[in-house]
Amino acid sequence: MLASSCLKLVCCTKNSYVQTADNMASPVKVIVVGAGSRGETYSDFASFHPELMQVVGIADPRAFARTKLQKRHKVAEENTFDDWHCVAEREKFADAVFICTPDRLHKDPAVALAKKGYHILLEKPMAVTLEDCTQIAEACIQSGVILTVCHVLRYDPVISQIKELIDNGAVGDVFHIQHFEPVGYYHFAHSFVRGNWRNEAESSFALLAKSCHDLDLIHHWAGERKCLKVSSFGSLSHFRKENKPSGASSRCLDCSVESGCPYSAKKIYLDRVKQGWVRWPVSVVCPTSVPDIESVTEALKTGPYGRCVYECDNDVCSNQVVNMEFEGGLTASFSMVAFTEEICNRKTSIQGSRGELTCNGKNLQVFDFLTQKTTDYTVPKSAPGNFNTGGHGVADYLLVSAFISAVANEDPQLIKSGPKETLESHRLVFEAERSRLENRVVFCGTDHD
Ligand SMILES: NC(=O)c1ccc[n+]([C@@H]2O[C@H](COP(=O)([O-])OP(=O)(O)OC[C@H]3O[C@@H](n4cnc5c(N)ncnc54)[C@H](O)[C@@H]3O)[C@@H](O)[C@H]2O)c1
Repeated sequence: MLASSCLKLVCCTKNSYVQTADNMASPVKVIVVGAGSRGETYSDFASFHPELMQVVGIADPRAFARTKLQKRHKVAEENTFDDWHCVAEREKFADAVFICTPDRLHKDPAVALAKKGYHILLEKPMAVTLEDCTQIAEACIQSGVILTVCHVLRYDPVISQIKELIDNGAVGDVFHIQHFEPVGYYHFAHSFVRGNWRNEAESSFALLAKSCHDLDLIHHWAGERKCLKVSSFGSLSHFRKENKPSGASSRCLDCSVESGCPYSAKKIYLDRVKQGWVRWPVSVVCPTSVPDIESVTEALKTGPYGRCVYECDNDVCSNQVVNMEFEGGLTASFSMVAFTEEICNRKTSIQGSRGELTCNGKNLQVFDFLTQKTTDYTVPKSAPGNFNTGGHGVADYLLVSAFISAVANEDPQLIKSGPKETLESHRLVFEAERSRLENRVVFCGTDHD
């Protein structure tokens, strides 16, 4: 469908580039399966680059979400569906699908749509069991379609710079990686106590839902070498019924001790919307309407986001550590913590035989043991419009850009991780969680029941 020949770089913003094929016959046609937060963000790429990508189909049971994207991208009525199965039942009518459904709804659409020959951009986690992840990877490989799992951080310019420095020998041979993920106190309350990822049976365990990105990065920085051993500890702290303050109500709007609670839904949502803030996390609270003071108040009175954080059906870990030993003696440690001021702004330090790299999530420094000098690296980040404000900003933009280029050019080398690597880093997550649950060191790949 698409003519492919030599690549050219089109400069879109100061620091981001989209690779296109010369003589590209038409934009890459995409169907959005799951038109929620992520589906909407990724599909916005078409608004900035109509010459590269066109949204031609949408599947989502929520009429509000479906219609919003249908209008934005002028999608024909006959190409809108209330379930992904309808897309699988139709003749193939696009080049690619964006699968942005909830965690437990990744495997079936991914396998079915890969078999129909669609290239796939699949939200992370790939799936909620290792067996399902393996089936997805196999289906994509056998069908010869490109699979990009949305490990967006790999596309973050700071992360790319870290990898480039390692590969260029800036710290010599890498022997240790320390990586910290601050989830953020109100982000954790929003997503992992009240929201979509609070309960493992409904979504997935926290290490998979939140930190599959981080173990993927550690694996990536470790040069994709094999992890030999892993151990992990962690639990759900604080957000438990026994910690409910005396006198607290079941809902924040009528709680007499709300003013002393940092997790109050009034503070997280209502105060924000009163100041005109309608983006995440406020936008998530009203799934069937535009957020304003009335709709948010109503949602907090009746919906999940107005519940007392000490009285939810949450069970996922609020803090977890993972220790790893890779081939060649490289050790790594990772921590994920709910109780932080910063939201998802990871901190990393990497120690090697010739130097030490530190990154505060924005800027990078390398100290060279020989010269005893520190070099600072400032990595500018910019992306057009909404990509700067929602989700992972420029990383989301560069991820979609790489996927669309890969499809246009039928060249999987243009994406940063294919099915095999993605499966390996997911395997590490499942092995780490197994260690936590079984309270023992897991010997990776060989430690079977
Ligand atoms: N890459 C990242 O960093 C990142 C960040 C956030 C979320 N995620 C992942 O992205 C996925 C989606 O998250 P989200 O925040 O957009 O959630 P969301 O709830 O906003 O969107 C999911 C959408 O899927 C739709 N859906 C449900 N059943 C469907 C079906 N049968 N057919 C088609 N659509 C269906 C829902 O109606 C909803 O609109 C999740 O797996 C989540 O873990 C990834």
